[in-house]
Amino acid sequence: MSIEIKEIKKLNPLQLSQCIEISDNLFGKGYHSIKYFSRKDIVKILALKKNKIIGFFIGKNEVKNFVIDCIAIRKSWQRKNIGTKLTIFYFKKFLSSKDKVIAYAWKIKNKMPAGKINYKFGLKPVKNLGRIWKDNCNVSFKCTSYKNTCICECVKFSN
Ligand SMILES: CC(C)(COP(=O)(O)OP(=O)(O)OC[C@H]1O[C@@H](n2cnc3c(N)ncnc32)[C@H](O)[C@@H]1OP(=O)(O)O)[C@@H](O)C(=O)NCCC(=O)NCCS
Repeated sequence: MSIEIKEIKKLNPLQLSQCIEISDNLFGKGYHSIKYFSRKDIVKILALKKNKIIGFFIGKNEVKNFVIDCIAIRKSWQRKNIGTKLTIFYFKKFLSSKDKVIAYAWKIKNKMPAGKINYKFGLKPVKNLGRIWKDNCNVSFKCTSYKNTCICECVKFSN
């Protein structure tokens, strides 16, 4: 069975718990809440295999911009084009070529997991915002990368 990509306006309880599980594993427990995934003002696109969520894409509209808030793919499914498929779906369904798009990429130990995807969709780094998570890291969420201190930076991409 192939992978299904679809937008879901309201996640059901099982979908909510699967998204939280993926986020807890990748970013750390507590980074995303049920409240976050229940927000009505965000676009939620899921990648499903046999009805199990293997990845999600969250986008949101700001006054003048479209923002890619988060892309997350289960570890065993990474580098299999799922993140690209989710982003293609978003660009096709929600954006036109004139739209301004912003993405925030997580930078750790000089690596940016989402960097390539951003470049593929015409986004370039415009500003390193630094350690934007440092006040919350290991406080409001249990960061998977915390090493006595917050070590992650955030790089803003735009077209
Ligand atoms: C980053 C992430 C969303 C990419 O999704 P994916 O399905 O694995 O990516 P794709 O298979 O579509 O690959 C897209 C490109 O990104 C590259 N890539 C994927 N994961 C990468 C990683 N961890 N580091 C560097 N490059 C990576 C691929 O090699 C590919 O490049 P190519 O087109 O030149 O071959 C996914 O790996 C993930 O969830 N990572 C952990 C969470 C994360 O960092 N999310 C981004 C938060 S800003």
